[in-house]
Formats: sequence, structure tokens, C-alpha cells
Amino acid sequence: MKVYNDISLKRYNTFGIDVKAEHLIECESLSDFETVAKGDGHRLVLGGGSNMLFLSDHKGLIIHPTMTGHEIVGENGNDVIVRAAAGTDWDSFVSSMVAQGLHGLENLSGIPGTVGASPVQNVGAYGADASQVVCRVEGYWFGTGEKFVLMGDECHFGYRNSIFKNEMKNRAIVSLVDYHLYRDAPLNLDYGPVRQMVESMGGASLTNVRNAILNIRNQKLPDPKIQGSAGSFFKNPEVSSDVASRISKDFAEMPQYQLPDGRVKIPAGWLIERAGWKGRALGEAAVHDKQALVLVNRGNATGSDVMALAEAIRNDVRKMFGIELDMEVCKI
Ligand code: EPU
Repeated sequence: MKVYNDISLKRYNTFGIDVKAEHLIECESLSDFETVAKGDGHRLVLGGGSNMLFLSDHKGLIIHPTMTGHEIVGENGNDVIVRAAAGTDWDSFVSSMVAQGLHGLENLSGIPGTVGASPVQNVGAYGADASQVVCRVEGYWFGTGEKFVLMGDECHFGYRNSIFKNEMKNRAIVSLVDYHLYRDAPLNLDYGPVRQMVESMGGASLTNVRNAILNIRNQKLPDPKIQGSAGSFFKNPEVSSDVASRISKDFAEMPQYQLPDGRVKIPAGWLIERAGWKGRALGEAAVHDKQALVLVNRGNATGSDVMALAEAIRNDVRKMFGIELDMEVCKI
């Protein structure tokens, strides 16, 4: 276990916001998790910090899982269960699974963050999300330090949502996640330009799907190592079919996706671009010029700079379309 006091969080959040934490503990083993979970007081769990926006210095304790590694814990014919530690870098894990020929995570290639965040946020991209593969989550309750185990269906997964962001919010920490993967499975090429890119790489294979998705992401999304961002800043709004058809009257070209419950999902990136914000800046915070759903740090942005930009965008989208944008990124 490593303990730091009064430490800058700049390298702990992908936005690169330079605030300080009063205390930060890195958990390197399961016994570290158990130890930090025990006892009273508020704790914030910080994984890769790829979905968090710090508005000010953080009073109190931050727990940062650094325990890494993965192993096969079950195997039966085509089915393989792989257990990974919460601190494992997400994309290194995906890369390793693809290299071993295991199917299930390839569409989630290139997402910044850690294994521990994957069930919390139900990370998703290119027609797949964590809920399709996460089959068991283990961790510890804050307070008692007791272990919990949840099966996939007990995680109450939703769009970028789970039990860990609701009933269990600030009450527990995830230590190990099990993924149900397959030696062989159909590839999912249906989202946007994936199929075309895979064809151009020589045809459908597990490795080509991963590489195609990495390519598509690189074209659109800023590399957090070069420019601070937290991926998609807003969620894609889901509106009633009445609202969608009202807007379509004025904007026939608006992309929209029918949801099973009759509602309609509209890409926030399109709304923001149409509202004129793509590539624009407000002080040190800016809208990415290749994907309007992503807000970036031009270098020295504070959390408040980013929020000022976000509010300006929300106001314009509300005025123009009558739609409220909700943040995907968590304000701290
Ligand atoms: N669009 C625009 N202008 C833009 C951006 C998008 O018109 O500036 C339009 C696109 O043309 C397309 C539609 O919006 O018709 C959807 O765009 P895209 O396929 O790029 O996906 P997205 O809805 O913007 C979501 C996820 C991403 C994920 C991609 C791919 C959310 C909030 N975001 O973005 O996830 O990588 O789909 O599956 O659901 C993240 O959560 O951090 C994230 C990056």
C-alpha cells in the first residue's frame, strides 16, 4: 500500500486538471482493498480518472487501485472466464485478450481507464458494452470491510450506469472483475464505419476488429497522453418520439436511433456541432474539432473553465432544440 498526502491529481485524471488531494492511497493487493475499506469516513475511488472532472482540491481520502493482472479462472469448451484486478489498464487487458484469441472485448478497444471502472460505468463503444461480458464483480464494503460478490445480472447495468453509481455509490470498492469470453464468437461489425474499415484491412478477424476500432477512435478522439479530455462529456439524450419528430421537421438530417422502449436516442455530438460549438473554445477549455461530444483541456484549464464551457453548450442546445444534455463525466 502506498500513502500520499497533499498530492497533485494532475497525473491521476485524463483531463489533466491540477488540483490536490489531501490523502491518496494506492491499493496494490486484495488485503490493501480490505484494509482501506474498513472504517468510517468518506472515500472517493479513482480508477484511471478518465471520466472525472475535479472542480477543486479534494478534502479527504482518495483510493486508487493499482493492483493489476488477470488469469483464466474457468473454462468449458468455448466459454472462458477471465478474472482481472481493478487497477489493470483497460486497453492492455483488451489487447492481451485479443492476442490470446478470446472474443468479447474487441469492440471495447482503446477506451481509456481501468478494469475496475468497466462495470461501474458500464463502458461501451461500437455496439458493445461491459454488461454483455461482465459476469461477476467482487469488492469490499466501506465501513465493515466485508467482501461483496455480485453476479452480472445483479449489477443493474444501464446506459453508462450500474448499481455502483446508484445504491452502492460511495459505499464500496471494486477489486476483481470476471469477464465471460469466448474462444469463438460472431464478430460485431454493425456499428458505423467498423465493417468498412475491417474490410479495408483484409477482412473480418478478431485482430482486425480491434485495429479498426483503434483507427476509428484515433481519427476522432484526442489521445489523452497528448491532450487532456475525458472522452464523451455528455450522454446521448433519449427523447420521446414526439420530441424527435418535432426536431426532425426543422433538421431532416438529424441522426437518430430507435430504442426498444419507443424512445429515440439522438447523438449529443450532432446537437453540439449543429449548435455551432465544434472546435470552439472558451478560455482554456475547448470542444474537440473532430468530435463535438468531447471537451478538451487546451493546457491549463481548471474544472470551472470546463464547466463554464459545458454550461454554455447546454444553454445553446436547450435554446435551439429544447433538449437537456446530461453530463456523462462525474463532477467531483
Ligand atoms: N456526430 C456529429 N458531430 C460530432 C460528433 C458526432 O454529427 O461532432 C454524429 C455522427 O456523425 C454520428 C453520431 O453523431 O452520426 C454518433 O457519433 P459517434 O458514432 O462518433 O458516437 P457518439 O454517439 O458521439 C458514442 C459514445 C462513445 C463511443 C462511440 C462509439 C456516448 C456518450 N458516447 O459516441 O463513448 O466511443 O459512441 O460507440 O455514448 C465515452 O463514453 O467516453 C465515449 C467516447
